[in-house]
Amino acid sequence: MTVYGSFPGARPRRLRVNPAMRRMVAETRLHPAELILPAFVKEGISEPVAISAMPGVVQHTMDTLRKAAVEAASAGVSGIMLFGVPEDAKKDALGTAGTDPDGILQEAIRAVKAEVGDDLVIMSDLCLDEYTDHGHCGVLDESGRVDNDATLERYAEMAQVQADAGVHVVGPSGMMDGQVGVIRDALDTIGKEDVSILAYTAKYSSAFYGPFREAVASSLKGDRKSYQQDPANVRESLRELALDLAEGADMVMVKPALPYLDILARVADEVDVPVAAYQISGEYAMIEAAAEKGWIDRDAAIMETLTGIKRAGANMILTYWATEVAQKLS
Ligand code: PBG
Repeated sequence: MTVYGSFPGARPRRLRVNPAMRRMVAETRLHPAELILPAFVKEGISEPVAISAMPGVVQHTMDTLRKAAVEAASAGVSGIMLFGVPEDAKKDALGTAGTDPDGILQEAIRAVKAEVGDDLVIMSDLCLDEYTDHGHCGVLDESGRVDNDATLERYAEMAQVQADAGVHVVGPSGMMDGQVGVIRDALDTIGKEDVSILAYTAKYSSAFYGPFREAVASSLKGDRKSYQQDPANVRESLRELALDLAEGADMVMVKPALPYLDILARVADEVDVPVAAYQISGEYAMIEAAAEKGWIDRDAAIMETLTGIKRAGANMILTYWATEVAQKLS
């Protein structure tokens, strides 16, 4: 008698016979609504500036940013995460341009909001590194160490100016202790209870941020190892997660994505809030560079990484390919 639980009765390949069959039994499907487009806008330029380490990604002018937002929304992308790049001369030790009500990021929030209204969830990076002349995510004490609590005061102010500009979601990415709670209080104090917080919960100190440093013209020398997490660790992500939730995070994020799918799966298992993953600049650059050399099938690799990130548990994925992929999916 044939035993169906083992070969030759059982033949898993039957469910892979053709594209229609594979499509039918697929457990993971990508949808444009899960995608969020990160976008850079630079002050004082009249033409977009190419980012050499991220072919296809630019530092936008206000005008091309508006167009990119419209294009993303039409493709069905749900959100846009904005990063401001101030003029070099405006960088200082405190990152003052980050809390200027007319600073580049605040202008960008207003411009995108005026263009697409509520058709896109408008998100903003809440961090000082784009605005400080030393490139760190916070302010420094006399010894040159990033001063956690002094930085929190700057973040509270940033949250308020971003909310005043009309942002829907703030994304604190600086990995300071207590940042989510301080930002929640700051928002509530000015009546912005409806602005939500996407907490960069598990943000690892990663070599894959390299191209981003060019994208925001970062002044950083050294590294962020005293505030971003050590790639060797799992448990501290769970601890950061518990803290962020207790402090009022509405959504949580794991970043980078591909080297941290185990963390993503753990976080997704633990929580009852939406989970985002950020496919970062270096993940983008690796695929684009290998594809340019003809070493990899670009489109297939993009879809495979996004499918893997979703399969691991992400509800939302930030990816520089968001618009392109959304167009392809719909
Ligand atoms: C900090 C921030 C960074 C990224 C997003 N927010 C850089 C860093 O922490 O060094 C990286 C995003 C990417 O690499 O695509 N403001």
